Amino acid sequence: EPWGIRAVLQTIPKVGIDEVDKAAGWLADAWDCQTIEVKRLAAGLVEITGIVGNPLDEHQPYVWPETADWVLPMGHNPWMRQVGIPLKQLSGIKVAGMPGYGKTMLMLAWMASLANRASVQFAVFDGKTADPRYGDWGEAGARAMFVVGDNPETANQRLTDLVRLIKDRPAALVEERGTHKFWKQGPTETNPLVLVLMDECHNYSDTKGLTGKDKQVIESNQRMMQTISKEGRGLGVIGIFGTQKQTGDAIPTAVRDNLEVGVCFPTFTIDAAEAALGAGIRKDDANDPSAMVDKERFTGVCVVTGVPGLGGHYDRIRVGDLDEDGLPGWIANTAHLRRDIIPAAAPVVRDVSTAQADESAGASVPLQKSTRRRKSA
Ligand SMILES: Nc1ncnc2c1ncn2[C@@H]1O[C@H](COP(=O)(O)OP(=O)(O)OP(=O)(O)O)[C@@H](O)[C@H]1O
Ligand SMILES: [Mg+2]
Repeated sequence: EPWGIRAVLQTIPKVGIDEVDKAAGWLADAWDCQTIEVKRLAAGLVEITGIVGNPLDEHQPYVWPETADWVLPMGHNPWMRQVGIPLKQLSGIKVAGMPGYGKTMLMLAWMASLANRASVQFAVFDGKTADPRYGDWGEAGARAMFVVGDNPETANQRLTDLVRLIKDRPAALVEERGTHKFWKQGPTETNPLVLVLMDECHNYSDTKGLTGKDKQVIESNQRMMQTISKEGRGLGVIGIFGTQKQTGDAIPTAVRDNLEVGVCFPTFTIDAAEAALGAGIRKDDANDPSAMVDKERFTGVCVVTGVPGLGGHYDRIRVGDLDEDGLPGWIANTAHLRRDIIPAAAPVVRDVSTAQADESAGASVPLQKSTRRRKSA
């Protein structure tokens, strides 16, 4: 093959796929291959593929999607095949990895991939920057319905808006097309696809060290992030959650485990990789992100799971090369397609008699009696 060697082997008693798999390392040395993959083709047939050289070290330009394709492009895998994430019925994506390996660049590329379509709107949360005008999403933010900075309370208001959009959607879809199933007809200008891009999302969902009202806000954010990851799929609202920390304390497992696609740039520990990619990554040495901590070689390289064709396994991808300086401006040039589609909030109706009772009592939240449990010896 142009990329190396492909051999199909018939198994014999006592030599099956496990035995071939065990010999893969020696075969790689003998054939002068960087990577060898062993796959069961059919009963009694095993396929061995070996790549000569290392295509992951090769840089290629980012491939922009065709207008009719609902897919987020990524880059090429060790077999030089282009890999993308289909958006149809997607519950969401988590993007993990140590600082500086390309999380934000990839998320910006996804925004740029769809920015020139009037049937897509964006909601951006930049958890890293106090004033988001001056952060990674500043310029690109011109194309978004809104950009939120690192304030969890502001994020709370915007998450409330998005949840309202989700709750309103079935009725809006039925009105437009007679069915509440978004992907039957796909995105339109009336009911666009909404990409919710949350960069450094742990900033909105990590309760560590917080008490009182601050903690309540974060817990409320967690619940709303969960609603997006659970209910957005069939309604055309897709969450993309990027963070250096995918562990359960930083991003609730109830959110994380709903997101079917995992993208993991190099991590310092295998535990961090497991949080993003699931337990199977511990048994897959070739795709272990903690073995890729080398900025010079692996910036822009990630491990993925949950994309079609992988069958629950893992693959490595070199994200296509992006024009870091030009990309945000290119997105901003499509700002005329930005439209605020958040439905207006219903007016709050308050019963006069209870309102008066609340005011005379002086407190709107009833205090609970605390019951202490005795520690058993
Ligand atoms: N696909 C790419 N094409 C071109 N340059 C890239 C690509 N991916 C990463 N880089 C380079 O790596 C740098 C760091 O990437 P990025 O800001 O996306 O990292 P990050 O993972 O978001 O880091 P942090 O966690 O600190 O926010 C970029 O500024 C860019 O120079
Ligand atoms: Mg970043």
